[in-house]
Amino acid sequence: MHYIPVNEEVVRDLEYLLGSHNVSVEREKMQAYSHDEVGIQFWDRTYCAEAVVFPETTEHVSAVLAYANRRKVPVTPRGAGTGLSGGAVPAFGGIVMAFDRMNRILEVDLDNLTITAEPGVVTSEIQAAAAKHGLEYVGDPCSGDASFIGGNVAENAGGNKVVKYGTTGASVLALEVVLPSGEVTWFGGKRRKDVTGLDLVHLMVGSEGILGVVTKVVLKLIPRLQHVVDLLVPFRGIEEAIAFVPRVMRETGLIPSSLEFIDQKSLSLVSRYIGSSLPYGEAGAHLIIQLENGDPDVLADQYEQVGELCFDGGAMEVFVADNKNFREHLWKARKNIAEAVMAFYSKYAKEDLAVPTSAVPELMRAIDRVCGKHDLASANYGHVGDGNIHVNILADEDREDWREAIESARLELYEVTVRLGGALSGEHGIGLKRKKYLPLFLDETQIRLIRGIKKVFDPNMILNPGKLVDIGTEPSDRFSRET
Ligand code: MLT
Ligand code: ZN
Repeated sequence: MHYIPVNEEVVRDLEYLLGSHNVSVEREKMQAYSHDEVGIQFWDRTYCAEAVVFPETTEHVSAVLAYANRRKVPVTPRGAGTGLSGGAVPAFGGIVMAFDRMNRILEVDLDNLTITAEPGVVTSEIQAAAAKHGLEYVGDPCSGDASFIGGNVAENAGGNKVVKYGTTGASVLALEVVLPSGEVTWFGGKRRKDVTGLDLVHLMVGSEGILGVVTKVVLKLIPRLQHVVDLLVPFRGIEEAIAFVPRVMRETGLIPSSLEFIDQKSLSLVSRYIGSSLPYGEAGAHLIIQLENGDPDVLADQYEQVGELCFDGGAMEVFVADNKNFREHLWKARKNIAEAVMAFYSKYAKEDLAVPTSAVPELMRAIDRVCGKHDLASANYGHVGDGNIHVNILADEDREDWREAIESARLELYEVTVRLGGALSGEHGIGLKRKKYLPLFLDETQIRLIRGIKKVFDPNMILNPGKLVDIGTEPSDRFSRET
């Protein structure tokens, strides 16, 4: 695969298509738009866009893709850059397509309970727009105050409410998509049922920008349950906390809207980072169990029932966060753990393993065993209610063989995860970061099918090359390209 460089002529053409104010070749801007949250110490080389474009309309997106496809220029779509797998890193340079200027909420449809938005709308703005009408958009990734909805769709973002409502994909009803050829099409619609053909909507969701570019998203809304409490439940040890998790649903018949886990190491890091802790900071682990109901009395009965069960399961205490301040504080701690890890460690691996919920105890034991064996620490937290644990393998700052030690630990953990029926990533995606590990989790048949699908959508391999599938060339070959 040979790509042409973004030379002066290409820049002039892009300016003609989008207007010069929507094209940038400023070095600082190109660098800023060439990374996500993955630390640059994890890449073997520097990746940088050769131009950044800011489409304002679907027609702009279509024009750029048709042009890039004809000229064979790579295009990497980018949301807000909050990704954790290098999905938006322009592995082959070329054009980064940023959606900052396609940021309109187009409609809230109160009859069909949907919201339609452009890809550059911030997730929390979607939540707020729904809330204005007494409705709720249930997608709730931890980076929701910054992430774009288009990025959430591309990665099939999960977050804190998956245990009850599913991942982003469960809320996506329809997508306007521009194919690499420039063709504009719609997958899905406002209808709630549809078995007409294949489910192309959910082929797009989580496809990491390798098949097409989403230019409009139609999302499901639900009536907002007005009353919410979070139970903050410290346990002496990780084992006890984890063992308690399945009892919540099994023994109460309730599905919490969140069921999160924070171990002691994660809590101590985030406490330092945000400058305040949660009660029982010394506990081995905390669970956050969120319940919601339209009736405050019913909700009170429910949290008492869950609270009693927590004590029965060995909880040290049960805090009921039923006011705004406490709830905000609790979620601030939970949502800042990823940043805290990155603030205090530069030598780490940030994993996103997802296993069947029954396998979480064994996964946690394996983390302990494997990290101990390689003299590494770990900070673990995440969406335990749906079996998705963010495993952070940590090496001391003065450790010289940290890359080798972490890599050995990572591979051993992957082996356990595969044996437990787990996935390489639950919600952060494969991106550039995990591509080489894909064959450990997918067999040849699956990889062949993915490659085939990519070819149907993107025969010239211009869209986000270097992600998910091999395209017969490597980024290092990029500069031996034809002109
Ligand atoms: C989270 O749940 O905090 C986010 O997915 C980010 C992460 O921890 O890796
Ligand atoms: Zn998460």
